[in-house]
Amino acid sequence: MSKKTDFHQRYRRDMGNGFHVRKRVALVSLVAALAAIVVIIALSVRLAQEKSRNAGTLPSTAEPTAFVPKEPWDHYRLPDTITPISYNVTFWPRLEPDVNDLYLFSGNCTVVFKCTRETDLILIHSKELNLTLMDGFHARLTGLNGPAPSLKKTWLEVWTEYLVVQLDGPLQVNSSYELFTEFAGELSLTQQGFYRSVYTEDGVKKVMVATQMQPTYARKAFPCFDEPALKAVFHVTLIHPQNTTALSNSITSGRVNITVDGQDLIRASFEPTEIMSTYLLAFAVSDFGHIRTESGRSVLIRVWANKNAIEKGKGNYALEKATPILAFYEKYYNISYPLKKSDNIAIPGYHYGAMENWGLITYGEPVILLDPNEPYNEDKEMVVGMISHELAHMWFGNLVTLRWWNDLWLNEGFASYVAFLGSDHAEPTWSLNDFDPPEEIMAVLNEDDYCSSHPLSVKEEEAWTPEEIVFLFDSITYKKGAAVIRMLSNFVTEAVLTKGLQTYLKEFQYKNTVPKDLWKHLQMAVDEAGITLPRPVEEIMNRWTLQMGFPLITIDTRTGNVTQKQYLSNPECVVDRPSEFNYSWIVPITWMKNGKEEPKYWLLTKEDTNTDMALGSSDWLVANINLTGFFRVNYDVENWERIINKLNSRHQDIPLISRAQIIDDAFNLAELGMVNMTLALRTTSYLDKEIEYVPWRRANSHLKKFFDILGPRGIYGPLQAYLRKKVTPLFQHYSELTLNWTESPRRQSDLYNQMIVINLACRLEVKDCTQLTTTWFREWMNNSTNNKIRSILKNEVYCSAVAAGGVEEWDFIWSMYKKNITSEVDDLIYALSCTRQPWLINRYLEYCLDRDKVPKDDVHHAIISMANNPVSQPLLWDFVRANWRNLIEKCFLLKETLIYAATDFLSTEFQYKQLLQFKEELKGQPGWEDETLEGVLKSVEANMKWIERYKKELHDWLISETSEK
Ligand SMILES: *[C@@H]1O[C@H](CO)[C@@H](O)[C@H](O)[C@H]1NC(C)=O
Ligand SMILES: *[C@@H]1O[C@H](CO)[C@@H](O)[C@H](O)[C@H]1NC(C)=O
Ligand SMILES: *[C@@H]1O[C@H](CO)[C@@H](O)[C@H](O)[C@H]1NC(C)=O
Ligand SMILES: *[C@@H]1O[C@H](CO)[C@@H](O)[C@H](O)[C@H]1NC(C)=O
Ligand SMILES: [Zn+2]
Repeated sequence: MSKKTDFHQRYRRDMGNGFHVRKRVALVSLVAALAAIVVIIALSVRLAQEKSRNAGTLPSTAEPTAFVPKEPWDHYRLPDTITPISYNVTFWPRLEPDVNDLYLFSGNCTVVFKCTRETDLILIHSKELNLTLMDGFHARLTGLNGPAPSLKKTWLEVWTEYLVVQLDGPLQVNSSYELFTEFAGELSLTQQGFYRSVYTEDGVKKVMVATQMQPTYARKAFPCFDEPALKAVFHVTLIHPQNTTALSNSITSGRVNITVDGQDLIRASFEPTEIMSTYLLAFAVSDFGHIRTESGRSVLIRVWANKNAIEKGKGNYALEKATPILAFYEKYYNISYPLKKSDNIAIPGYHYGAMENWGLITYGEPVILLDPNEPYNEDKEMVVGMISHELAHMWFGNLVTLRWWNDLWLNEGFASYVAFLGSDHAEPTWSLNDFDPPEEIMAVLNEDDYCSSHPLSVKEEEAWTPEEIVFLFDSITYKKGAAVIRMLSNFVTEAVLTKGLQTYLKEFQYKNTVPKDLWKHLQMAVDEAGITLPRPVEEIMNRWTLQMGFPLITIDTRTGNVTQKQYLSNPECVVDRPSEFNYSWIVPITWMKNGKEEPKYWLLTKEDTNTDMALGSSDWLVANINLTGFFRVNYDVENWERIINKLNSRHQDIPLISRAQIIDDAFNLAELGMVNMTLALRTTSYLDKEIEYVPWRRANSHLKKFFDILGPRGIYGPLQAYLRKKVTPLFQHYSELTLNWTESPRRQSDLYNQMIVINLACRLEVKDCTQLTTTWFREWMNNSTNNKIRSILKNEVYCSAVAAGGVEEWDFIWSMYKKNITSEVDDLIYALSCTRQPWLINRYLEYCLDRDKVPKDDVHHAIISMANNPVSQPLLWDFVRANWRNLIEKCFLLKETLIYAATDFLSTEFQYKQLLQFKEELKGQPGWEDETLEGVLKSVEANMKWIERYKKELHDWLISETSEK
């Protein structure tokens, strides 16, 4: 699966360039987004825990009395008594509501299974289905190799999501049986299991139905053995109206007109699927249009979407790119695509990014449809990225499947890693690998440095319940997963990785695996290629996958001493997960001396000496070249100084991604007091010569904190002056490159860098910038039906024009927002928060309480946006305190999200006292735990200390930097 948006992440680190992050996250972060809300809760809870630990108050509240499972149906995992062989399943979804205004589906299913261990009990998953009683039982059992025992008792176990069938006698080992069920359910709007999606086309309301089975929703569509290792063949039949088309994983094998209850319908049957897991099953019924590859090609590729979109050619780009990407993977995996067709369907209002159902991939409309008339095609990268990710799963995940969800990272990490290759193949001129993977890695280094992070592979018993499984679809799984595979590729070589992968897929096709199986095949490929590694592949990889976090490598270039230690963003927090490796890693360290790459160095212990790394007085060393390894690096001060000198004299001598990493590491280490804050700031002093995206993006995201905390203070002036000096040349660079902003730059990374430069330059009041955005904005205001602002820049342009303008601009945006054009809503909500007029902010805040003005889905985004603007911050803080109950009860905002948004920037003694008082007021309110506020108090205190600690140092340095020399 792929993920859509993650506001929280954006809020935590990257509010500065919100739109960009949203797009980029949508594209590549690919966290599964079982509704972004889950992620938000997860992160909020994690932050709360973290902050409370920070406060030294480990949560002492007793765990709710643990439930001890006694009966087989109390367990979340199926017993190993039964193996399914095949399912014959028929569905009849009603696209019209019944008399009670419900949209229902009915169906029946015959599952053939074999008994593998003697038992008198059948457990089969079933959730929220009404099962028809047959002779008083919820199912009917038939023996295929002799008589079956008769049923004793059947019931539904809601908690563990089972249909329980107790038998009078035992099933015979190696005998096969058929279990028949007949069921009805509701086509929900929640997009779990069999669901409906409602949309309008030419003013007409339409209904289409589709499925989302991953991870545990197949059981909501029909009773089944819903675990990934229980693979089977599926014979699907769909009954549907005559003016619609039915799709499933395989191609249609028959269509018959039938009449049921006076309705003329079609019964479509599909060829049996390959042997596969329940979570990959899919079907859809719609009146969509489609386009397809020419007949005669071996694999039929189609793109399906609402008729209007297809007529307008919006699916063309996806079809054009799916073809070479599929061909690329056939070669890469060295196995032909096992199915006859690959359908790609755009679901209106899809909650997930995309889902890799085998042969019938579902996508959200925005991630696969593109307007061919749009002169700029920035969104193409998202389309290519999504298709590449999902098609990569057709082999890695679908053909060979992980045994259980605890190893989800290998499935998603691999798809994310391989998607970069597929995308690069489809659009080679974009040079995606120069900026996409490193951006992802640096983003997830910032997630995996929490004490409450988790290992890539968690223990199986940590991922038993559906909720626990959903939680695993996070950025650690996707991004760190891809990062450690990238590191692996670097030390075994890409050719060896590919070879090992190919033999692995061959051996385990149509089966299930654990990571050990892959390590075995990689080891074979390593041995065959004669590559020497200090330890076996498995032993190296276990350090990175079975323990959470990553190391900080410290290199002392005076002595060549090299050490490692777990990197934690909060050194006081308590890691309560023991590691069998004692948080020591086997670290492949690439490094260069004076710009020349040296042989890779392996750090095998916590401390070692590499005399090659002891330097002369004019030498400089940079380790972890281009972020090939998943770790941070610190150096002795002298080497840092020489690196900064090098950046200022000839930054091109340091590779591009390393430049970004130097900035990123320095700021993170400065926060921990391991290097001076001014040293970190000095890594940005060369930026007036830097024109590349990745270093700018890193610098920009670290400067957010400076804007936030220093914004309301006297020191803001010198900071602004310093940064204006750095960003003005970049702004001029793009003005020239794009003929005064009239053309789109060719490189993808320049598209993104443009967003940063407009955001920074306008925020720093670079005159040319404000002038540019207000001119564009004026043109739009004068002719509101003709908006020429490029979609990728809208976010920054609207924001800066609203900031520079007054009530007229604000009202214009508001009127556009009221038009409710879905693709614009996020940009508009954000823009409204950018005004510098306090009374407009207050008006916006009032609107947020009025459901008719700002719908509840948007309030969250609006509040978080306001937390990003120094003018609105104090107003937001007052507002949140005054309207606390309303915001939670009427707007359904999460308490944690709200409190973090409203307090992230607080940093004065006075505000600290206000917060204490607020805590008193909240005391005793139901459902409110002190823990979160304790954490917030701690972090405000930390902000106060931060200011105290750095005020003088920063001030003196900024003055010296900005005074004319
Ligand atoms: C399932 O359907 C297939 C194809 O229609 C048929 O050949 C097979 O006999 C059916 N199996 C069962 C158990 O009904
Ligand atoms: C399953 O349902 C379909 C459609 O209602 C029906 O044609 C078929 O006979 C049913 N199968 C069984 C075994 O009852
Ligand atoms: C399931 O059964 C309950 C109780 O009879 C009924 O209220 C509900 O509408 C049924 N749901 C479906 C989807 O048939
Ligand atoms: C199919 O036709 C029926 C009756 O003519 C109509 O009510 C329904 O909206 C149509 N469905 C679709 C998806 O076009
Ligand atoms: Zn995926």
